[in-house]
Amino acid sequence: MASEINVQRRRFLGQSALGLAAYSSFPNILNAMEGMQEFPKISPNKASANFKADVEFDLFCKTGSVSILPGQNTQVQHYSAVLKTGPKNTLTEIPGSYLGPLINLQKGQKVRINLYNQLPESTVTHWHGLHVPANMDGHPQYAIMPGQVLVYEFEVLNRAGMNIYHPHPHEATAKQVYHGLAGALFVRDEEETALELPSGAYEVPIVIQDRRFDDKNQLIYASNRHDHMVGFYGDQILVNGKPHYQLDVESRAYRLRILNGSNARIYKLAWDDGTPITVIGVDGGLLEQPEVKPYVMLAPGERLDVWADFSGRNEGSQLVLRSLPFSGVLPKMAERMGGMMQGTRLPVGSDYPIFTARVTKKVSESHKLPHKLSTINYHPISATANPNKPLPIAISESPMAMLLNGKAYAFNDVQATERIKLNSVQLIEIFHDHGAGGHGGGMGMGMMKHNGGGGMGMMMSMAHPIHLHGQPFQIVSRSINANHTEDYDTVRDGFIETGLKDTVLVMPGETVRIIKPFQDFKGLFMFHCHNLEHEDMGMMRDFLVV
Ligand code: C2O
Ligand code: CU
Ligand code: CU
Repeated sequence: MASEINVQRRRFLGQSALGLAAYSSFPNILNAMEGMQEFPKISPNKASANFKADVEFDLFCKTGSVSILPGQNTQVQHYSAVLKTGPKNTLTEIPGSYLGPLINLQKGQKVRINLYNQLPESTVTHWHGLHVPANMDGHPQYAIMPGQVLVYEFEVLNRAGMNIYHPHPHEATAKQVYHGLAGALFVRDEEETALELPSGAYEVPIVIQDRRFDDKNQLIYASNRHDHMVGFYGDQILVNGKPHYQLDVESRAYRLRILNGSNARIYKLAWDDGTPITVIGVDGGLLEQPEVKPYVMLAPGERLDVWADFSGRNEGSQLVLRSLPFSGVLPKMAERMGGMMQGTRLPVGSDYPIFTARVTKKVSESHKLPHKLSTINYHPISATANPNKPLPIAISESPMAMLLNGKAYAFNDVQATERIKLNSVQLIEIFHDHGAGGHGGGMGMGMMKHNGGGGMGMMMSMAHPIHLHGQPFQIVSRSINANHTEDYDTVRDGFIETGLKDTVLVMPGETVRIIKPFQDFKGLFMFHCHNLEHEDMGMMRDFLVV
């Protein structure tokens, strides 16, 4: 481990010519070393004889090659799966895509998944959005070596919704997801089925990612410190693993299940002809009522359930989903320097298309949008264990480190505020903690004081999609510091505050309060930034539910 850190350290030193990297003195890594505990050596979980699986499949993580751009194939890492028990529609391939098969589960099913690591490196899979026992959640401590098999067994407790499965190994999540390891996992339940929403060909997954390719069509990934500080951005938008995605539709209503599967890129989604976006669901399933928005912000890890009604449109007409201009999600210096600083020709916050829907068939009948979608059991603040004392999730950003609660990730390093009573409902406040936050890293803090920590912190301030494992949460309030309102005005109408979330975009200067239950399962449940480069830099902690 120590030698690996030295190699990284040398690599970062080598980048010092690069603007921001000049400030980098990597105390986040030093911090991590301080309290660092090795992950325990656990032998991979095996199938238990008394678990009667309704659904069982083998899930393989492997290397492969797919056609993405014209010409040469691209080397990727990807999931593939083989159903052993259960309904035939449990697994649906996305033809020709590196994305894993769509996994379709039903609430109440007992599921066994045999994860085969056929990669040349260790990995583990996390079911982002699912409420499963701690030892089935894909915590990095359960990572398996090449050739090993890890058996997951859980019951589907979630309500209907779109979830994600992706790797979660220590410090290698971003790289593995970027190279293709990700897929969507749908849960269905009776409440949703009774609504008779558009389904089959009329329900379409839209997984949005950005990638960068070299002139031989091979993926380029983060090579310097700066790519990790601001996150890695591609210059090519892929939908369901394809560039220039076209969706042929009939003139009727569709249900688009949108997932931002990008490592770091944040989108401001809108229809190009000014049609508002009708949102019927988010991360944790259906909203109670549809919400109509001029545009919707979608950060890495977030999902949107969109009602897209093409009825009345003529055959041959097109509607383009775009990302519209916005500002304020990147550190000011990086933003001012545009694409060059982000290492991409497609700067975050610029204006570009995501995909085109083309009406190819005129039909007369269509589904009607229901007024009432679902009933959500919201928790009032008064029902939380701590109505006057929210648990902190403190974001600290400095040129030296991206931390949560003053620390970089370390195993078995739970602080008092990260210890949570089983079956409690907690009020949590996510906020930016400039300057004052870092309790570790003597060198870093010293430097910050010299330079006037607050100013430096402000300069590095950026948006972070904060994700909490386990049960979804509700958003109680968002408040923005007066210094940031100008940028915030470019995004503020794009947040869905109703419904249940597991990932929330926290803008610079913003404080977000959430209420989250911690029911059923004890153990370690992670929370982290879903900017995957930040996550791997250590912007991640564990809650210990006891
Ligand atoms: Cu989608 Cu802990 O991750
Ligand atoms: Cu997760
Ligand atoms: Cu972040």
